[in-house]
Amino acid sequence: MPLLEVKGLKIYYFTLRGVVKAVDNVSFTLEKGESLAIVGESGSGKSTLGYGLIRLVPPPGRIVEGEIILDGTDLTKLPESRIRREIRWKRISMVFQGALNALNPVKRVGDQIVDAILAHESVTKKEALQRAMELLKAVGIDPRRVNNYPHEFSGGMKQRVVIAMALALNPDIVIADEPTTALDVVVQAQILNLLKKLKQERKMSIILITHDLSLVAELADKVAIMYGGKLVEIGSSDDIYTDPKHPYTKGLMASIPRLGGKKELYWIPGNPPDLRSPPPGCRFHPRCPYAMDICRVKEPPYYNIKGVSVACWLFEEKKSGG
Ligand SMILES: Nc1ncnc2c1ncn2[C@@H]1O[C@H](COP(=O)(O)OP(=O)(O)OP(=O)(O)O)[C@@H](O)[C@H]1O
Ligand code: SF4
Ligand SMILES: [Mg+2]
Repeated sequence: MPLLEVKGLKIYYFTLRGVVKAVDNVSFTLEKGESLAIVGESGSGKSTLGYGLIRLVPPPGRIVEGEIILDGTDLTKLPESRIRREIRWKRISMVFQGALNALNPVKRVGDQIVDAILAHESVTKKEALQRAMELLKAVGIDPRRVNNYPHEFSGGMKQRVVIAMALALNPDIVIADEPTTALDVVVQAQILNLLKKLKQERKMSIILITHDLSLVAELADKVAIMYGGKLVEIGSSDDIYTDPKHPYTKGLMASIPRLGGKKELYWIPGNPPDLRSPPPGCRFHPRCPYAMDICRVKEPPYYNIKGVSVACWLFEEKKSGG
């Protein structure tokens, strides 16, 4: 049994201007100690999926269907009180998008970590402070800086503090939502290395959310490509990088700059779908260079191609020998 199994998850925002189908029938599994990257362009539903997994979907959003099974328990069925007591931060935690800018500027970083611990566990303040210092050390910050204020840290160090807070209750799964955006490339690499180290040392599972496919190769065991609220391709990192199958994944791959590669980078023309009224059939069809008649009317099922799951009608043809 996988550590986490997400089945047919739908998360919609019920706005005055219509229903935004931000996460629409998403399924995947995550094993203990495994890292999964969820990759897709802005507005594809990545953060919403993350919020769903820790049951923090902001209104007017809510989970409308599906299951989030953690160790055999469906989290969508648990009352909020049990999620708060047993699941959120303790089993699954999240480093929110842009969280490094959300640290309290007038509070010492150590105290912010201490507060996070004391909010969920009955330990003494002294014990919590001790743990805060250990956490800082684990994320590569000198524990003697426990009394510093956020402004005394660089962007990369603030991100480390936020990661330390997500680790405070020793969760099985950490969701990191765009943890490297707004950081320069060197610091980006350091943060990704830190996540990799934590994964190995703590046997922790990681869900890394990013719009940048080029970032994930080193860290991710598995990659899930998200387009317009749906996962269109899921496979091992190796398979996705060496042999992308879905036309959208191919487009993403072609838009990654390579050392010594050709100067002109490809970018997928067109705009992401409006999730209040997504295109019928395959949501990618208005932008897909391979679109066929069936793509405009019927949603493609998932085809399993040598362990890679891909939602595209092109593979129906291949299956039938075309
Ligand atoms: N609070 C909200 N109310 C209404 N619609 C929302 C809300 N939050 C997100 N959405 C919509 O849901 C869709 C998915 O948004 P989400 O933030 O999950 O995407 P994302 O992939 O994380 O994007 P980004 O890469 O920009 O962070 C978008 O169409 C967005 O406009
Ligand atoms: S199903 Fe059709 S439109 Fe969608 S990605 Fe495949 S070929 Fe393109
Ligand atoms: Mg987001």
